[in-house]
Amino acid sequence: MNEKNRSAYLIIGILSLVVFVFLTWLIYLRNPEPNYPAWVTALPSLNAMLNGITAILLAWGFFEIKIKGNKESHKKIMICATVTSGLFLISYIVYHQFHGDTKFLAQGMVRPIYFFILISHILLSIPLVPLVFTTLWHAKSEQWEKHKKFARWTFPIWQYVSITGVLIFVFLKLFN
Ligand code: HEM
Repeated sequence: MNEKNRSAYLIIGILSLVVFVFLTWLIYLRNPEPNYPAWVTALPSLNAMLNGITAILLAWGFFEIKIKGNKESHKKIMICATVTSGLFLISYIVYHQFHGDTKFLAQGMVRPIYFFILISHILLSIPLVPLVFTTLWHAKSEQWEKHKKFARWTFPIWQYVSITGVLIFVFLKLFN
């Protein structure tokens, strides 16, 4: 491993760990604020929208490089997907500043389906953070073989996490 990659991987590792520890504390280990402003209740819809937009951008960016071979469009669209995912993360943090985790109360077959989606979504979102940064780093440093090697994991995991983010919102709206 060259010196440049070693430093980048170290920074990405530390950054991802900080995000992971902070989110675990925010959502599971802290008492949320009991009184919150009305606009906070609109954030889950905004989060679902940002996840939906990210999923569309990812599919579009993939199409641009794999089908059309258009590197410039691929670059711009993947950067936009990173921005919408980043905005989602900010809005998600603001929401959980006020609100703890949401209990799923519905019974029956929908319950195991919901929890399969939720748990797989949470577990895959953990490696997603370092995967996105690493894929971007390899693009920025023009290491294309490495970019492709990582992108083969980053792309489907990111797509899965974005789509299941929307599904979780829909399940909570329809069945809870
Ligand atoms: C995290 C965001 C990104 C993801 C998920 C991603 C995903 C992908 C995927 C799936 C491929 C096709 C891999 C294959 O053929 O097996 C690819 C190729 C490529 N990407 Fe990205 N990409 C991202 C960001 C970028 C950025 C920011 C740039 C521009 C600087 C870029 C430039 C390229 C290029 C030039 C190729 C073609 C490489 C080659 O065939 O030699 N990508 N990317």
